[in-house]
Amino acid sequence: MDLIMGMNSGSSFDGIDVVLAETELAEDGFPKAPKFLCGGSYEWPEEVRKIVTDAFENRVDMVGLNRLNYICGAVFAEKAAQFMKENEIDPLRVKVLGLDTQTIYQEQPDHKAISEMSEEEKADWPGRWLSKKYPAGTQMGDTSVIANLTNIDTVTHFRPADHTFGGAAAPLMPYLDYVLFRHLDHPTMTLNIGGIANLHVACADRRRMLGFDTGPGNVVSNYMCRELFGVEYDKDGMIAAKGKVNEKMLDYFMHHPFFDRPVPRSGWIADYNAEYISGTIEKFSYLHKEDILATACAFTAAAIVRSMYDNVPAEVIRATRKLYCSGGGVKNPQIMKELKARMPENIDVTTSAEIGIPPEYKEAIKFATIAYSTINRVPGNIPAAGHASQYAILGKIALAPRNISGGAQLD
Ligand SMILES: Nc1ncnc2c1ncn2[C@@H]1O[C@H](COP(=O)(O)OP(=O)(O)O)[C@@H](O)[C@H]1O
Ligand SMILES: [Mg+2]
Repeated sequence: MDLIMGMNSGSSFDGIDVVLAETELAEDGFPKAPKFLCGGSYEWPEEVRKIVTDAFENRVDMVGLNRLNYICGAVFAEKAAQFMKENEIDPLRVKVLGLDTQTIYQEQPDHKAISEMSEEEKADWPGRWLSKKYPAGTQMGDTSVIANLTNIDTVTHFRPADHTFGGAAAPLMPYLDYVLFRHLDHPTMTLNIGGIANLHVACADRRRMLGFDTGPGNVVSNYMCRELFGVEYDKDGMIAAKGKVNEKMLDYFMHHPFFDRPVPRSGWIADYNAEYISGTIEKFSYLHKEDILATACAFTAAAIVRSMYDNVPAEVIRATRKLYCSGGGVKNPQIMKELKARMPENIDVTTSAEIGIPPEYKEAIKFATIAYSTINRVPGNIPAAGHASQYAILGKIALAPRNISGGAQLD
């Protein structure tokens, strides 16, 4: 068995999750389902936190971004080291560390425009991005800084490989789901409720898999909590529990242009930015503040279910028995209650804990698994889900100092 480590800091920007898991390659060439060993969550240093949140709003210049890339690398390395110290993990025993680093910006591909491009147009490589048809994103956290500080071979930045082939590279969860569920003879759905929520359909045939963003996970509710109640998020859904869902406001939410975008959609917090949410609060300011929050939870759930019916074939929905939920949103009983009320009866809505994956760490386990696949030359994208034109080995690898070969002269 190989020890693998993964880290995640998503669009909620609520902290850095770190996990240790173990796996090995199975006979079919893919990793076996990773076994979770331990995990931890760490806060961003306040000074860095401020720069990243400014970067989300495009308020950091090029000079600042340049430095931020190194700073974030150092923060990730520091948290990885702290995690290993706390759990008595020897870095030399860890085969690989995988993390996407911190996304600060992401554009989705124009799938329609790409499908209409001629082979000649696609052969103009710079033109793929000059035309703005191919997607691009920015992640902060330099791979070499992380590998050299942790002394672990590190794989980061999983998305550009898929982007190069016109894929959305978001969500990336379908690959882990394939690893987890490829032995089953029926489809399995999974849902991750982070800042943005994404739904996936896994099956033994990768060519039939699906994965797409459904709308907000916690991003709307978190923003409202800060704006209306001065807290970071609605712990255990206590505030929303006191409110009533307002159908008019829910209907307004459901008319967001996000739903007109073809899947996989690749939502980003820019879709539900400060301007949109504060405008919505303003529009419905005659409601109780708790009702506004209760409606935000109902919106997350309604958007998930609508996206499922809009994009998953009816026979696949009928054949599905389980929906394994993960991400911080599963800890909000209001979101889960609204979701269960809207899902069809044949689908048991549960969490990934049922299959040994703690919901709060599934994303970090995903990055560990993709990184392990990368160093074993296994493609970590699922073209059927992300709409890339081919399979690709994801990520950028930086080798740790421990690899310096015995023959090399060190003085
Ligand atoms: N106990 C809790 N009660 C309600 N919501 C929670 C709880 N714990 C976490 N969350 C929600 O989950 C979010 C973090 O989810 P996470 O999966 O880490 O998202 P991301 O991948 O975007 O970082 C928090 O911002 C919060 O909205
Ligand atoms: Mg998080």
